[in-house]
Amino acid sequence: MERKSSLFLSKQVLTLLIINMSNYQPVIVLDFGSQYSQLIVRRVRELGVYCELLPCDTSAKDVIARNPIGFILSGGPASVYERSAPQLPGYLLEVDKPILGICYGMQLLTHAFGENVAPSSAREYGLAHVKVTMPDSPLFAHINATKLAGSQNFIMLDVWMSHGDKVIELPPNFQVIATSTNSPYAAIADMKRRLFCLQFHPEVTHTSQGQNMLRAFVYDICGSEGGWTTKNIIDETISNVRQQVENGHVICGLSGGVDSAVTSALLHRAIGDQLTCIFVNNGLLRFNEPEHVIDVFQNQRHTKLIAVNAVETFLRALAGVTEPEQKRKIIGETFIRIFEAEAQKLGEVNFLAQGTLYPDVIESAGTGHSAAKIKTHHNVGGLPDDMQFELVEPLRMLFKDEVRTVGEALGLPKETIMRHPFPGPGLAVRILGEVTWERLETLRHADNIFIEELHAADWYYRISQAFTVLLPVKSVGVMGDCRTYGNVIALRAVTTDDFMTADWSDLPKTLLQKVSNRIVNEVKAITRVVYDISSKPPATIEWE
Ligand code: XMP
Repeated sequence: MERKSSLFLSKQVLTLLIINMSNYQPVIVLDFGSQYSQLIVRRVRELGVYCELLPCDTSAKDVIARNPIGFILSGGPASVYERSAPQLPGYLLEVDKPILGICYGMQLLTHAFGENVAPSSAREYGLAHVKVTMPDSPLFAHINATKLAGSQNFIMLDVWMSHGDKVIELPPNFQVIATSTNSPYAAIADMKRRLFCLQFHPEVTHTSQGQNMLRAFVYDICGSEGGWTTKNIIDETISNVRQQVENGHVICGLSGGVDSAVTSALLHRAIGDQLTCIFVNNGLLRFNEPEHVIDVFQNQRHTKLIAVNAVETFLRALAGVTEPEQKRKIIGETFIRIFEAEAQKLGEVNFLAQGTLYPDVIESAGTGHSAAKIKTHHNVGGLPDDMQFELVEPLRMLFKDEVRTVGEALGLPKETIMRHPFPGPGLAVRILGEVTWERLETLRHADNIFIEELHAADWYYRISQAFTVLLPVKSVGVMGDCRTYGNVIALRAVTTDDFMTADWSDLPKTLLQKVSNRIVNEVKAITRVVYDISSKPPATIEWE
């Protein structure tokens, strides 16, 4: 293959080499639109079994080419009787593999055998108690009986229900294996054909022992041999990257965030000096962040790293700009221009590495509720259409928690891999109004105090993201005997699983008090500190 060295040689189609985990026979989760679809995949992978999420209308050819050992049908908001409701794919019952239908997946599967589904008299949502009526069903093989609450005669399980329709009649050859007060068919199975259905959600933590049911399904019923371990993920990714890159040269934009850090570390392990990382200090980073990135990658890990000081360029481009989307656009474009110029200086470069994660891949495949609109503006701020590099995306089959485990196994410092997410446009979208060096320094200082105190109180790793925002208003205060008139800092701390929804964190009053005192005393321009108690939705996590 002819290798090209410029970002913008011509209008050619980008070749996207997909690194897949072809050595694994996956359990396939078919997504019927449940908010829990990705969670099912994560739970199965936590069991050491490779699992992929595919839209429910993926072609039979694409599904079967993956050589799956079994299927899980997710829940979903539709009713099987709606005209536009997603259908059970025709190939499913023909391929003779085990199937676990969850909620809507259950209704679809049973509906395939007749008119067995009807609306529930009441929509059932929340915790329910299920009585296991057939404990020797293979699906319950790993249920831990010693931990069960309940009567002597029956095993009782706490489960999470969320359904409108329910199964009202048992399809031929099915047996009831668990019941609840509202759902006489809470779990049913056709053992011979290895079809299992759960009205409740085994993937959510509210379902006690849900993970044990998934374990029984993937290992005992589907016959998985496991093997989805961090070591195997690393070995296979390295071998895939070597195969893709051969003797080519790869560049990787390093931001200081976990995705680009793990991408770089993996690539460095795979191809050593064929990798050059480019780190652009845009002046919009957190306290000490440029020093930290350069120290970890250049000094500790001996990665080839070009560190570009572009603070002045960014500040000039942002001067006078107050509109958030314009800030984002300017930062994205400035970044690309700098990155491109550095790449040109390097001579022959064939590949661009990106820290694309599995949720982005799922999202672009058009699957369900995935979390990842976040990333349309991620990485290098949008790649040009006429980009000539091939992409290398070593993390594209991994979830964030798997990326962190890989990073840890590669020896990256905890500070790097567990660091809270940070938006590409950096502090520019946390300074409401114009971005100036002085305001950046004020925000960095306040932010660092907040983060320091979160660490000191052992709260940093218990929340998902925390930061400060510099507001474009001034307020009156009093210090000593003097009236003050200064800026306001807002503290933001959230807890979330997927960053699509988030709760504000209920931080201890003493901690907030200390942060507030320190900021007002130590950061000259600040006279007032407020705590943001908005959840997402309706607010977003960032303020701009
Ligand atoms: P919002 O504010 O949309 O943020 O609730 C959700 C997550 O995305 C991050 N975020 C961004 N990341 N470029 C990024 O790379 C951006 O422009 C951007 N805006 C928000 C945010 O920090 C949070 O983790």
